[in-house]
Amino acid sequence: MNEQINTGTPTSTPPLTTDAIKTLRRSLLRWFSESHRAMPWRKTRDPYAIWLSEVMLQQTQVATVIPYYTKFLTLFPDIKSLANADISAVLGLWAGLGYYRRAHQLHRAACEIMLKHGGRLPTRFNDLLQLPGFGPYTAGAVASIAFDERVPAVDGNVLRVMARILADPHDILNPKVQRQLRETAQSWLPPRHAGTFNQAMMELGATVCTAGQPHCTKCPVSGVCRSRQAGTTADYPVRGKKDDRRRIYYAAVFAVLAPGLVLMAQRPSDGLWAGLWELPSLSISGPSQAEAAKIIVPLMQAAGMTFFDRQPVAVINHTLTHREITVCIFAGHLSGRRKRCSGYKNDAKAGEAMVATLQHGPLAHYAALRWEADPRQLPLSVLAKKQLVAIDVAEWDFGPLPKL
Ligand code: ADE
Repeated sequence: MNEQINTGTPTSTPPLTTDAIKTLRRSLLRWFSESHRAMPWRKTRDPYAIWLSEVMLQQTQVATVIPYYTKFLTLFPDIKSLANADISAVLGLWAGLGYYRRAHQLHRAACEIMLKHGGRLPTRFNDLLQLPGFGPYTAGAVASIAFDERVPAVDGNVLRVMARILADPHDILNPKVQRQLRETAQSWLPPRHAGTFNQAMMELGATVCTAGQPHCTKCPVSGVCRSRQAGTTADYPVRGKKDDRRRIYYAAVFAVLAPGLVLMAQRPSDGLWAGLWELPSLSISGPSQAEAAKIIVPLMQAAGMTFFDRQPVAVINHTLTHREITVCIFAGHLSGRRKRCSGYKNDAKAGEAMVATLQHGPLAHYAALRWEADPRQLPLSVLAKKQLVAIDVAEWDFGPLPKL
């Protein structure tokens, strides 16, 4: 490990010389013009399409984004159609991309652009920054790529490339270090074609200066790369404490109302997975199935449910950027006929009564509860999709689990 590495308060790393910056610009732009990958958003000058691509590309890899991008633009070809769309339709198109907050913000920004900017994206970095969902990266990418403003766009790939070129010993997860690197990136931009330069930096990070082992022999800027020259590329970028993800535990219920309706819950309109549907869940304090059962079983029994078993039918783990989630799923059914003696005339009545009991009580944290014949048709979070897949394949001893 390089001895200079420190993760404390950043002091500025020596800048590249003017000559090195000129070489970097020239070599990188030439390389990019010869070897960039074809991508649909590189063929358009439409600021809305460029904005959409940048938001989607923050979520996942290029190959995954392309079909989502194409379908999204087919259904919502401009800002107006997006602003007029129902948020559930937008979330439906986003399902599988993750980070649904970004889809909400995209929609909110489209509404704001209609109201305040006559339906046209502002063209300046500082004005873009005022819109929902626009941080320095998105504003920089859109302003430079769509409007040719000389501003940097520093995403995770670019941070890594810069940390290696500069042999920067500071923690790239530190916001102050990121701010300094954005200032440095500004100084590296050529007088013109900032958008192309920014894309070339990202492309270099995605294809050559990759997260694992960088491909230095193919790198157009290895001549100005300090860590390459020192043989220390493996030491960069420096990242602070690695796994500070919060651990979160839930007990969830797969409640079936004859003939085959499943109880689904819609999350509130803000926060994680806003507006998406999932199996009704309650948070619990730790990774204990006994605790999960103790909380969920009596609660659902009070609402009229009979459990197939007191063991979870499935336990699933899901990792997010800042969270590690474990969910224990219990399953059971609610039958109006069986509950006739308690006053329910039929299944539908029993279902309604259960929803009313839960919605005003233990599941009041949800925006809505509803019995669904085909829950997979709802806009679901990736976690909820995993829940349904786990239910589909669950093995169990107390008779067949209703198939979805
Ligand atoms: N990653 C995010 N935006 C990108 C772009 N415009 N080009 C290449 N990679 C990207």
